[in-house]
Amino acid sequence: MRHAAYVFDAYGTLFDVHAAVRRHASKIGPDGPLLSEIWRAKQLEYSWVRTLMGSYLDFWQLTEQALDFALAKVPSADKALRAELLEAYWELDCYPEVPAVLKALKAGGARLAILSNGSPAMLESAVKSAALDHILDEVFSVDSIGRFKTDPATYDMVIAAWKLYPDAVSFQSSNRWDVAGATKFGFRTVWINRAEQPNEYVDQQPSLILPSLDGLLTAD
Ligand code: LAC
Repeated sequence: MRHAAYVFDAYGTLFDVHAAVRRHASKIGPDGPLLSEIWRAKQLEYSWVRTLMGSYLDFWQLTEQALDFALAKVPSADKALRAELLEAYWELDCYPEVPAVLKALKAGGARLAILSNGSPAMLESAVKSAALDHILDEVFSVDSIGRFKTDPATYDMVIAAWKLYPDAVSFQSSNRWDVAGATKFGFRTVWINRAEQPNEYVDQQPSLILPSLDGLLTAD
């Protein structure tokens, strides 16, 4: 075991944010992937803009507002699906390798946590539905400080709670912008590049890039 603690971003890293739209794919039609991309992009944009202007709303409200924008932007998508799409967000699939990797890290003696923009209720539901509740030691939600990632205060929640030096923490995220924020803060970072995106934020490089969480067990 090479790190005392492994901290994971939630949405996109452990839980598949596109699973909600996929679950209703046949009713949504061919613009489902577009709807899902816009929904996610707006949800994130709102988190950054609201943190910058000091006007926090919790991540669930941002998720609702982002879906409303996406449904307005994609006329072919049936607006009557709004409630079902939102409901699916509370029980997103986790990626297939997640339970085994987390269990192995825990068996090796590491502390495990989520650090997420998600509201406590959203995270509790997703963690329970993926049966990760007995594996994780902690679920840190930025809601308690009212600012979203990449504000340094969000990453500091882990350090304040666990009294570790930042470089004792390995932080995993599939979101390159989140990796940049966590690297700047001082965490050791792993970019889980699930979607094979090109690199960015080149002045804030991760220690490691993996296609899934699988390689984490053997990585330095
Ligand atoms: C999270 C989002 C940003 O879980 O993916 O924090």
